Amino acid sequence: MLIWRRYLMTRPMSTSSSATTIEGLRWWERVGPAPKDPILAVSEAFLADSSPLKINLGVGAYRDDEGKPVILQCVRAAEAKISGTQFLESLSSAASTKLVEDSVQLVYGKDSDIVKERRFTGLQALSGTGACRLFAEFQRHFYPESHIYLPVPTWSNHHNIWRAAQVPVRTFHYYHPDSKGLHFAALMDDIKNAPEHSFFLLHPCAHNPTGVDPTEEQWREISHQFKVKNHFPFFDTAYQGLASGDLDRDAKAIRIFHEDGHLIGCAQSFAKIMGLHGHRVGCLSILSVDEKQAIAIRSQLQQIARAMYGSPPVHGSLLVSTILGDPELKALWEEEVKVMVDRIIRMRAALRRSLEKLGSCLNWEHITNQVGMFCFSGLSPEQVDQLVREFHIYMTCDGRISMAGVTTSNVDYLANAIHEVSRY
Ligand SMILES: Cc1ncc(COP(=O)(O)O)c(C=O)c1O
Repeated sequence: MLIWRRYLMTRPMSTSSSATTIEGLRWWERVGPAPKDPILAVSEAFLADSSPLKINLGVGAYRDDEGKPVILQCVRAAEAKISGTQFLESLSSAASTKLVEDSVQLVYGKDSDIVKERRFTGLQALSGTGACRLFAEFQRHFYPESHIYLPVPTWSNHHNIWRAAQVPVRTFHYYHPDSKGLHFAALMDDIKNAPEHSFFLLHPCAHNPTGVDPTEEQWREISHQFKVKNHFPFFDTAYQGLASGDLDRDAKAIRIFHEDGHLIGCAQSFAKIMGLHGHRVGCLSILSVDEKQAIAIRSQLQQIARAMYGSPPVHGSLLVSTILGDPELKALWEEEVKVMVDRIIRMRAALRRSLEKLGSCLNWEHITNQVGMFCFSGLSPEQVDQLVREFHIYMTCDGRISMAGVTTSNVDYLANAIHEVSRY
């Protein structure tokens, strides 16, 4: 430090060094600002608004009935259990393997044959985003000519992730704006018409942003058609439990595909379902035909991850494994998931009731038909804009309402504002 300071004091300011500085300044002249992310932009605008009436319905994270973020009791208990653990070293392979095993059991069930026969592999990833990105890189590496089919609409970041991994994106029908439900016939046509061996991204439950999921019967038909066309199903599951309040029920779509013999890829996030957004705990798992193939896939994933971010953070992973590995904590977590879901369902009912009471002549059934954290309201970008300007209510411009931001004390204000912007 001293030597460095002395060097700075004695260093002559030569013309060539100032020329280098000016030259250096030019390095980034070519860089303009990136377009704002549609979801992050909502939070920024909300923070800049000083009105006491403001409501943030943009952020997809659970809030309690006072609008406050929640730390789950199971997480607090797990924190107490792991306190003092030496986790400053990077994650050991054994700990990572444990997280993958726990995550796979959560999706496929602990008695599943793939768990017993070890026909799966995977890696701890940087939450759901990181798991998707890891898979996108893996896909490009081994199928450089392939595309990814994304539903319309989908979580906007899916487009960014596959584009950044240089995998071309194609889309398939999913949502029908008229029925505000699933466009099943068009979806099936798109699956049938896609070239054989295509990669498809599917949301197994609580579809973001629409809150519209296929029924069990429809999933069976989709899975069957995937078999006929030899498509690869990649499930992105960020909301297991938050659709129905039941972890097994919300994994049904993936289990149907497994029963049908697909080799599934799955990205899991613990951000929303355990309230661990800041810890970035996720898992990418891939099913294989046997253990040998599983080992090969894992080694390739490890190599990709090593070049992108080295190894993932340890603390959150220990929290998740502690909860999933302790029957009492797991039961507590399941109860807490149910509490979150029940509150969201109550808010859906309250919002719809309030709109109907105001005499809105529009049909608001979809508010209670849709499931999970989001309600795809059907409001136009202009109406969303009006909600911001006149009522200080913030949501993404596609009209997606994060139901977690709706509370007993703001639901009538919200209903009134929606009624005002949609009545003509
Ligand atoms: C469908 C879907 N997948 C993945 C994610 C990724 O979340 P995270 O990276 O915070 O785990 C989200 C978050 O909004 C999501 O909605």
